[in-house]
Amino acid sequence: MRQRQEIQALPREAKLIHPYRTIAEEDGVIVILDQTRLPGEAVFLRLNTLDQVAHAIASMQVRGAPLIGATAAYGVAIGLADGADDVRLQQVVETLVSTRPTAVNLRWALSRMSKRLEAVSPHQRAEMAWHEARAIAAEDAMANADIGRYGLALLQTMTAEDRPLSVMTHCNAGWLATVAHGTALSPVYAAHAAKLDIHVWVSETRPRNQGLLTAWELEQSGINHTLIADNAAGLLLMQGKVDIVIVGADRIAANGDTANKIGTYLKALAAKAHGVPFYVAAPISTIDFYCPDGSAIPIEERAASELGTSAKQVANPAFDVTPASLISGIITERGVHLPSELRP
Ligand code: MRU
Repeated sequence: MRQRQEIQALPREAKLIHPYRTIAEEDGVIVILDQTRLPGEAVFLRLNTLDQVAHAIASMQVRGAPLIGATAAYGVAIGLADGADDVRLQQVVETLVSTRPTAVNLRWALSRMSKRLEAVSPHQRAEMAWHEARAIAAEDAMANADIGRYGLALLQTMTAEDRPLSVMTHCNAGWLATVAHGTALSPVYAAHAAKLDIHVWVSETRPRNQGLLTAWELEQSGINHTLIADNAAGLLLMQGKVDIVIVGADRIAANGDTANKIGTYLKALAAKAHGVPFYVAAPISTIDFYCPDGSAIPIEERAASELGTSAKQVANPAFDVTPASLISGIITERGVHLPSELRP
């Protein structure tokens, strides 16, 4: 049975602004910000059992591919506290890997943890797991900062003299969705820091409304933005009100086809139709080189209750796949690549 999570409310005066680290260690447990309570309330949860970590990922208390990966890595460390033989290690990894299917960072982080831990004796594993989880988290923050720098260079080639540069994004691929900095929003934060005049169109992202998280992040950092209903995106792209679309990714296949939050594909289609560049920003850990193309990416089907309806038949696919042919470029910590140029 799941144990009660310890809850800590954020002091009223505290502000969470970029750069902010979403996962922290405290005396052998991890502390996360409960994203199901945002943007209304900033509540921290202390997770100290494997079940709590698995629940936090499945219920989207933590979400966003890179943060899911880092949280799972820490989940291994927590899960090995009372025993770390091969059977327990496998059980811990299996519990965590089954939480969410699409974000490949989860599988990536767990397979990195397994390889590292299998190479040492069971009594060394708990300590080694904390060490490796820390490394995964630190590397994610660094990769995302680099994505910001490359993305900024791209945005600087696009600035218009007479009005703010207008970026459209989807879902939340900001610092909340990663260990720090964000992916799609990292170039936006870098641009804001470089005093570029920038505006962000933020789509609501039904049914889970992650766009509200993006609007909250941008508000906290004083970045000019406008929240829109998902279906308004096509009109704005047609009207020439968007200079560039930048989205995150949950899994990028070897050929560049990209799974991201449901609704991304429609934005990519509309962007192509109206000649607006469409970029994906993601760390290399989001690229699945074992997956040849988008048709092999598993799409998470979430509970019908998320749609808040009593309709008898409901489908709730949480992600869609944007074909590489609609993607102008992929921004990673190594630079800006054509989808066909991805290399391990
Ligand atoms: O279901 P979610 O909220 O975990 O989905 C998140 C997304 O689709 C993000 O765009 C993606 O993970 C990139 S996060 C940096």
